[in-house]
Amino acid sequence: MIMSDFKDILNNKVNEAYDLIKEFLPKEEGLQKRVAESMNYSFNSGGKRLRPMFMMESYRLFKGEDLSKIAPFMAAIEMIHTYSLIHDDLPAMDNDDYRRGRLTNHKMFDEATAILAGDGLLNYAFETISLAMKKEEDPVILKRMVAAFEVLSRKAGINGMIGGQIVDLEMEHKKDVSLDTLLFIHKCKTAALIEASLMTGAIMAGADDENISKIEKAGYNTGLAFQIQDDILDVTGDFKTLGKSVGSDEKNEKITYVSLKGLKESEEEQKRLSEEAVEIVKEIGNGDTFLSDLIEYLITRNN
Ligand code: IPE
Ligand code: IPE
Ligand code: MG
Ligand code: MG
Ligand code: MG
Repeated sequence: MIMSDFKDILNNKVNEAYDLIKEFLPKEEGLQKRVAESMNYSFNSGGKRLRPMFMMESYRLFKGEDLSKIAPFMAAIEMIHTYSLIHDDLPAMDNDDYRRGRLTNHKMFDEATAILAGDGLLNYAFETISLAMKKEEDPVILKRMVAAFEVLSRKAGINGMIGGQIVDLEMEHKKDVSLDTLLFIHKCKTAALIEASLMTGAIMAGADDENISKIEKAGYNTGLAFQIQDDILDVTGDFKTLGKSVGSDEKNEKITYVSLKGLKESEEEQKRLSEEAVEIVKEIGNGDTFLSDLIEYLITRNN
């Protein structure tokens, strides 16, 4: 893989994913329009769009062709992810001022609006999926949608992202947090939504249970590696490239992979986890290597 070629392909895929999902955003109208403005402000800031892209490419990996069937789910996962970031940045949580290269939602608007914009995005995600389900006439596709809906809501919920966030907060300022607890946090707060992205793509393309489990494992590895790299970049990254505050974890005395194991071991572990994910995806493969190339590329990401 030549890196400059891959970057062009990646750019095109990000644009493709963003074009598909932006159609689903709420209109900024009515007496309540401030909440839609606030939702769209964070959604339309420059995110990497990794989760919708993972979903789209997993759908393709399993030979899904009609992108209109996966698009509502792609929009929903990015809405859920964006809401998790808006709330994560609130003063009551990580208390950060910058996100995706701009002021955080509560800094641009205010705390109450940021809370409601997060709630709004979460509800809008489920409204988007249920509306697509209501319109679906093919019973086979509808059954897949129900299965994907269940995975998405579970992985975003108290046994997934929300579960990870509460333990992340509870462990602040604590000494002697175990590796098991850290792995629980990282699996839930970050890997869960990446697992959900890959699984939803597979489910919507009609993959069997064995393959859905395989892609879930690839999602776990990729997600864990992704959060370890996020922890590394919080120490080694620069504000301009990252588009968000650095040193946030130290400020909040968070338990991170770096605080527990140091930089070197963190780098080795995230590489090992990513390479394992690459192998799983290659094994499933159908000749299209974008998804495995993307996971490999993320090993060296700097934003
Ligand atoms: C940030 O996710 C939160 C973590 C789970 C580490 P991303 O790094 O994917 O954020 P965006 O979407 O590109 O802003
Ligand atoms: C957050 O982890 C994961 C979420 C569920 C939002 P972090 O708190 O480390 O994410 P960043 O560094 O603020 O993006
Ligand atoms: Mg956090
Ligand atoms: Mg944070
Ligand atoms: Mg972080």
